[in-house]
Amino acid sequence: MSANKVYPLLKSPITIRGMTLRNRFMLAAMGSNFAEEDGSCGERIQAYYENHARGGTGLIMLETTSIAWPAAASMPNMVGFSNESFLPGLTQVVERVHKHGAKIAAQLNHSGKVSQEDIVAGRPLWIPHPLEKHPSDMMSVLTPEEMGNFIKMAGPDGKGPRYHVMTKDDIQTLVGQFVSAARLAKKAGFDAVQLHAGHGYIISSFLSPAVNQREDEYGGSRENRARLLVEVIQAVRSEVGEDFPILVRMDANEYRIDGGITPDDFIVSAKLAEQAGADAIDVSAYGNVAKSIAFTEAPLVHEPGGFLPFAKKAKAALSIPIIAVGRLELDEAEQGLSAGDFDIVAMGRKLLADPELPGKIMADRSAAIRPCIYCYICVSQIFINQPLMCAVNPRLGQEYRDDLIASARQSKKIIVIGSGPGGMEAARVLAERGHSVSLWEKDKDAGGTARIAALAYEPNGRLIRWLHSELKTLPVDLQFGKLATVEAIKAESPDQVIVATGAARTAPDIPGKNLRHVFDGDQMRGLLFGTDPVAMKKLPLYKQFMLFSARHLQILRSVGLLRALSHVWMPVKKKVVIIGGGLVGVELAEFLQERGRDITVLEPGANLASELSIVRRARVIHLLREHGVSLQTNAKIVEINDSVVVYEIDGERNEASCQQVIIALGASADTTLSDQLSKAGINTVAVGDCKRVGYIDGAIHDARAIANGI
Ligand SMILES: Cc1cc2nc3c(=O)[nH]c(=O)nc-3n(C[C@H](O)[C@H](O)[C@H](O)COP(=O)(O)O)c2cc1C
Ligand code: SF4
Repeated sequence: MSANKVYPLLKSPITIRGMTLRNRFMLAAMGSNFAEEDGSCGERIQAYYENHARGGTGLIMLETTSIAWPAAASMPNMVGFSNESFLPGLTQVVERVHKHGAKIAAQLNHSGKVSQEDIVAGRPLWIPHPLEKHPSDMMSVLTPEEMGNFIKMAGPDGKGPRYHVMTKDDIQTLVGQFVSAARLAKKAGFDAVQLHAGHGYIISSFLSPAVNQREDEYGGSRENRARLLVEVIQAVRSEVGEDFPILVRMDANEYRIDGGITPDDFIVSAKLAEQAGADAIDVSAYGNVAKSIAFTEAPLVHEPGGFLPFAKKAKAALSIPIIAVGRLELDEAEQGLSAGDFDIVAMGRKLLADPELPGKIMADRSAAIRPCIYCYICVSQIFINQPLMCAVNPRLGQEYRDDLIASARQSKKIIVIGSGPGGMEAARVLAERGHSVSLWEKDKDAGGTARIAALAYEPNGRLIRWLHSELKTLPVDLQFGKLATVEAIKAESPDQVIVATGAARTAPDIPGKNLRHVFDGDQMRGLLFGTDPVAMKKLPLYKQFMLFSARHLQILRSVGLLRALSHVWMPVKKKVVIIGGGLVGVELAEFLQERGRDITVLEPGANLASELSIVRRARVIHLLREHGVSLQTNAKIVEINDSVVVYEIDGERNEASCQQVIIALGASADTTLSDQLSKAGINTVAVGDCKRVGYIDGAIHDARAIANGI
């Protein structure tokens, strides 16, 4: 079990213009698509925010809203903030949050050039200046089904968005909309407002030199570009009075946007915002949405603490509190507070994965925090206009159904077979519900095939470690190295068996698949972890010896150690062809390329890694291409021989040279064991990949649903 750590500064209160927060945690604003279709805050969104408040966070930032609803909205189920009809729902959100001791601010926004709902309705989008068109490379990674979600972006006449360059009268209308929304927020009982001046929305369109080339007093110099922001702050201040905090979210940098906002531009605008009456600056950043990788540079930064230098710069230049955000780890957050680099720690994804994170820190239970695995499923849902969800937290968005893990009516004796994410989650939930649970795993270590996923993508390992460590805190009988057979299970007379043994992997019949340099997915896993004697026999003797020794010294049992070691040595040659460009093939390609191998991926179908969320997929594919990995789709595999893989695209013959070949195809559901058990009269249910091959989220969600129903 990992040790609990104490974070005294994260636990300390702070006051901003009379608003005292119980700790330094802020829920970063995150669009959820949980509002009702009429823009009101119904039970679903109320219960969602109440749950975050219950989780112990100091300040909740309500997601992006529209101050001109139904116009200026970027999602179908956007929170409306344009008139008094929204007051009842907003007031209820506030009251339910306050009940649990959290404060709540409203993020007031006008989506400007990103107002998707205006495109759908055929309304013109407000912009400061005509836009330059940039081709998007995002579409190339989408599957046809995902593409379907973007069709309505062509607008009712199919001609795409129409734009309206704002006149000075429009600017005054916009300022008035912010003022009315702030009045509404105060009336609803919010403790503060946050003006959204980032992420490509309307105020940031004025701040960005790449977009704003106006020639009047709202364009040109940095001061002129910040004029709209300053006017909005001043007007909102005179509306809300001196005792109401106004926070501002800004971009400290625009990534991959020629002539976009620079950190120096940001400091100038932030200082002007401070002079105009802002009480805190939330330091975010933005990336060019037309470039698939940019989104994971900003605002959803992939690099841990990627925006910290900007927060530090702002702290040195301003005297109001600074809110840091962007994949902040707890240790770095505590250290940054202690160094005086910022004052408040905003978290997005970590609080989706575990809304109780702040409460666990307050109670010195850091080891109990469920980790985010940076799979980008949450935000990809918003991309395709679906409600927010989280891969590792099945309850997210379901709070209104009140499906808490309830005690079982009758405690049963249950055996869970398999310690992948699905098996461990099932065992965890069952034990929490009071059942008597044994978990059987045939390997010596927890994780199942997810161990290879953890090897390829480090955050996956955090989930396995967390699940394993939670199981150790619960009364679960953990049996490693235990093979489940019908006889062995029968001998235990369980009331219920849960089979979570994962998918079967059978390499398709490709001529040459039995050659010595060809491995299937299972053999490759066995090779890397030193657990497959048949696969190891395919290696030269000295490599077999190295693997044997490493296994003997227990080195190959730790995924973390193996990840580190694999940068120095692993039994994989320089030139590798991976057959199969699904999730496994693409993540393996990423792992091997990062370790200096020359990789070709041959995918028989039209799409790469469709099991990965859009945003993570776009990132991986971009990085693989950038690093020279050859990615071939629609590649019909003809044969593998000693030095090449022969394949055809559109009937044309090609060869990819190789020293080793990995076949990452052929995963299928495998109900053999659950069928055998059922046949033997044992009450059995299958969970996760052995039932239907999917990603970690599928296994976790399935496991919870099943375990909650027993
Ligand atoms: C699902 C999702 C929705 C988001 N929606 C918003 C939003 O409505 N307004 C906003 O300012 N930022 C939004 N963001 C950005 C977050 O506020 C935050 O800045 C970003 O996720 C980086 O923080 P993190 O690494 O802790 O997740 C969103 C992020 C996610 C994951
Ligand atoms: S969906 Fe994935 S990235 Fe998003 S919060 Fe959950 S685990 Fe993290």
